[in-house]
Amino acid sequence: MNKKMQGIILAAGKSTRFNTGKTKLLEKLCGQEMVIYITKLLARLHIQTTVVVGYQKDDVINTITHHHGDTITCVTQNEQRGTGDALLCTQSRWHATDLLILNGDIPLITDDIIENLYKEHCIAQATISFVTAHHPESTTSSYGRVIQDGISIKIVEAGDIDESIDDNCCINAGIYIINRSFLENYITQLNSNNTKNELYITDLVRIASENGLTVVTAKAPFDYIRGINTFQELWAAEQIKKSELIKYWMDHGVAFTVPQSTIIELDVTIGARSRIGCGAHIMRGTTIGQQCEIQAFSWIENSTIGDNTTILAHSIVKDSTIGSHTQIGPFAHIRHNTHINDHAIVGNFVETKNSIIGAHTKAKHLAYLGDATIGSHVNIGAGTITCNHDGTRKHETTIMDHAYIGSNNTLIAPVTIGYNAFTAAGSVITHDVPAHALAIARERQINKDGYALKLRALHNRPDVHEQLSNTAHFSFVGAKRILYDDSSPEDV
Ligand code: UD1
Ligand code: CA
Repeated sequence: MNKKMQGIILAAGKSTRFNTGKTKLLEKLCGQEMVIYITKLLARLHIQTTVVVGYQKDDVINTITHHHGDTITCVTQNEQRGTGDALLCTQSRWHATDLLILNGDIPLITDDIIENLYKEHCIAQATISFVTAHHPESTTSSYGRVIQDGISIKIVEAGDIDESIDDNCCINAGIYIINRSFLENYITQLNSNNTKNELYITDLVRIASENGLTVVTAKAPFDYIRGINTFQELWAAEQIKKSELIKYWMDHGVAFTVPQSTIIELDVTIGARSRIGCGAHIMRGTTIGQQCEIQAFSWIENSTIGDNTTILAHSIVKDSTIGSHTQIGPFAHIRHNTHINDHAIVGNFVETKNSIIGAHTKAKHLAYLGDATIGSHVNIGAGTITCNHDGTRKHETTIMDHAYIGSNNTLIAPVTIGYNAFTAAGSVITHDVPAHALAIARERQINKDGYALKLRALHNRPDVHEQLSNTAHFSFVGAKRILYDDSSPEDV
């Protein structure tokens, strides 16, 4: 098949029915652009491919190049004058015996459908073969309808059909194999005498049939050939793709607590006995090990998670790796090149970025760990902040094995906390701490006996009370400020 056939994908259209001003061909289903489903299908079948681009062609070409390098050729249709015109634009590239032409907006199409169409085409030695499907509401759909009368066959577009014609609910899928020499001889017969004033590729079926040439059809299930012209159609197709993916992972031993609520994309791997909670997002490039638990409303993207790890509810893990037997969340934000080793715990309201967190290390609450290299068996107290940004540049924090960072520490990078060192709660650490040392970097506490009583008395004085009325919520803070402004504390 691959030697005798070349592929052409029509992807130049304006996507007007999407109403976004953007080409629909780059809209994603389960994380992959619509047109890339088609280019990858042809690449799998080793069919050399040309893509017709036009509307927002630079974006389309960039996406194709991102996935396929320079193995796919793009040709430009400058003005969107219909699918027949798009095919005409590729004429200088025709070389194979047959051309496999596909709309770019049918992402659910399978290898089997193409292989079956090619088989039928060869058996019948047909001039044109095309895929059809049963559509119970064909009369209200936007699909072209297949009208057959004896051996004569044609496709009539939705806008051009006479409603009295019985189409037997058979629609055109937008997938054609057409003999090259027929195209070379007959494509000039296409005209734009139709409601859209466009050249329709579908008219080639009528032209072949009228000239006594063989046209065959191959039926496919409607779900696999759905064309996507609107957001609603995109949504419906994505539901189909998503449930295929979920069923696949269920068959591989993965439990989904509320499968209809799970968002799952392509390029994901999930180990057996793992459980995916309600509303979890398992996005592209993610590998989840065996026996993991991804709890409700977590978002895992482009990340690797080891075995027996739990991601508690409402956590985000992006562009990162997490080891085995590790616990993340709830409400954790693990992002941008974070590596968390085995048996670590990263708890609620902890954000990590571009950091390494060693095995058995715990950062259980309320911390920001950015540009940090943290060893194993480290304890990061609640409220710890690695101050990595000096206003212009980023700096690194290093915390060696077995260090203990007290609560509410501000670690001003670049700084290193040595092996087994302690830092006292509330410290602002500006200098390196040697191994085994205790660093205390905070104001020493002063207790003033009876001072609270004086403050309260002051608060009750009518003249001060009036001044404080504007700062009612912070009356004691206000009282202190007035004290410091007007007299020394000792005077009160
Ligand atoms: C087309 C078929 C219709 C079929 C349906 C299947 C025609 C005339 N009609 O209708 O019979 O039932 O697909 O889904 O072909 N394109 C270009 N250049 C253009 C116009 C379109 O490259 O000037 C591309 C589009 O980007 C798209 C594909 O061709 O990928 C099909 O165009 P679209 O407008 O979606 O055709 P339909 O109205 O769906
Ligand atoms: Ca379409």
